[in-house]
Amino acid sequence: MTIPKIPYRFSTLATALLTVALTACGSDSDNGGGASSQSSQSSENASSSSTSASSQTSASSEASTSSEASSSSSASSEGPISIEPDFQLSLLADFPVGVAVSAASEPYTIFGNNAQPRRDVIVEHFSQLTAGNIMKMSYLHPEEDRYTFDDADELVNFAQTNGMSVHGHALVWHPDYQVPNFMNGYEGDWEAMLTDHVTTIVNHFGDTVVSWDVVNEAVDTYSSNPSDGWRHSVFYNYEPPAEGEVPPYIEVAFQAAHDAKPELDLYYNDYDNTANADRLAKTLEIADHLDDKGIIDGVGFQMHVYMGYPSLDAFRNAFQEVVDRGLKVKVTELDVAVVNPYGGGEPPPQPDYDMELATAQKVRFCEIAEVYLETVPAELRGGFTVWGLTDDESWLMNQFENATGAEYDDVWPLLFNADLSAKPALQGVADAFNGEPCSAE
Ligand code: XIL
Repeated sequence: MTIPKIPYRFSTLATALLTVALTACGSDSDNGGGASSQSSQSSENASSSSTSASSQTSASSEASTSSEASSSSSASSEGPISIEPDFQLSLLADFPVGVAVSAASEPYTIFGNNAQPRRDVIVEHFSQLTAGNIMKMSYLHPEEDRYTFDDADELVNFAQTNGMSVHGHALVWHPDYQVPNFMNGYEGDWEAMLTDHVTTIVNHFGDTVVSWDVVNEAVDTYSSNPSDGWRHSVFYNYEPPAEGEVPPYIEVAFQAAHDAKPELDLYYNDYDNTANADRLAKTLEIADHLDDKGIIDGVGFQMHVYMGYPSLDAFRNAFQEVVDRGLKVKVTELDVAVVNPYGGGEPPPQPDYDMELATAQKVRFCEIAEVYLETVPAELRGGFTVWGLTDDESWLMNQFENATGAEYDDVWPLLFNADLSAKPALQGVADAFNGEPCSAE
């Protein structure tokens, strides 16, 4: 079914009138859980930092062999609400505008036989790619003496061919399924082993991967045990820090990346580090420690956020802390779910994604981008990346279900509809990039 499109600026009312129900045909793929899926966390997950919902889930979903997703069955009763952009998003910014993509044989892979339309939208609007999964530890380095770069090379080549850069994600990350088996309970020289891991990967990609999340999610302030605020991952356990110190593995990984390619931008990346003061403090502790050694360039804020939480002030404050240190700020994994299942009590039901909600989300995306531009000076803007292209491929539906048991067919967190049409949210980001006021009009 073809959805009629008209220029957005003249079309809010008309678009509302033109919304049509998308025929839910051929939709048998899952929602993009990745080749092997484990939710890492609950993201910006509570309406207050003290009420942490289950912050760690460990569900896994079966690897899917489907080469590519088709249309979604999760369109609201209103059908997709779309705009016809009269801009290319990345051309409105002088910093990387990124999107996380699936590759290899993952669901929603950009390399599927029928994925040309998906690739076209990506090339049209984005200037940077992050691999949603296939550049994580176990994908690149399954065994101590074996690295597997083919899938990532395909992704990096695609980016290069199309004038995009790649942000590497992530050299060190804790989830069980992501940690190569040989690293568990490693009995040799762990510093040499970790250094080799980081050095080999960074050197392999050279300058085609312009930046890296060197360490992802080292902070854990939600578990009652540990109480030191650090995630007691396998890496932490190689050498637990002395009281008041940052876990040594973090510096080892950054030092190796820095030594291999000092010109790349190296980030520490984490979630819930805007509104949650404890998690922000820990993030900054890491940043300060690495900054003292001159081996970090910036802080990545994942920003899996909601319509009303965290507040814009929370974003502003967190970004400012990093800017005050002269470090770069990168929004690494933005999605804005229109429902927050972690608010306490029964998870709320799935709302109808109607024009009102789509417009409110447009304003929300705009305001987030606006805070980024207002707070972070041009030379410290590491980039602005959304975690997925189309709503139906978002990881959040799996994540929410794993964490709360509530089922959501869709939470509409991204900038494009399942049929690849652009959402008003895309206009919201464009408005901010253009320096225009965030408005529902
Ligand atoms: C997610 C992927 O999007 C999913 O496909 C996978 O099943 C689990 O990981 N924080 C991160 C990302 O740093 O790596 C996570 O990506 C989302 C949360």
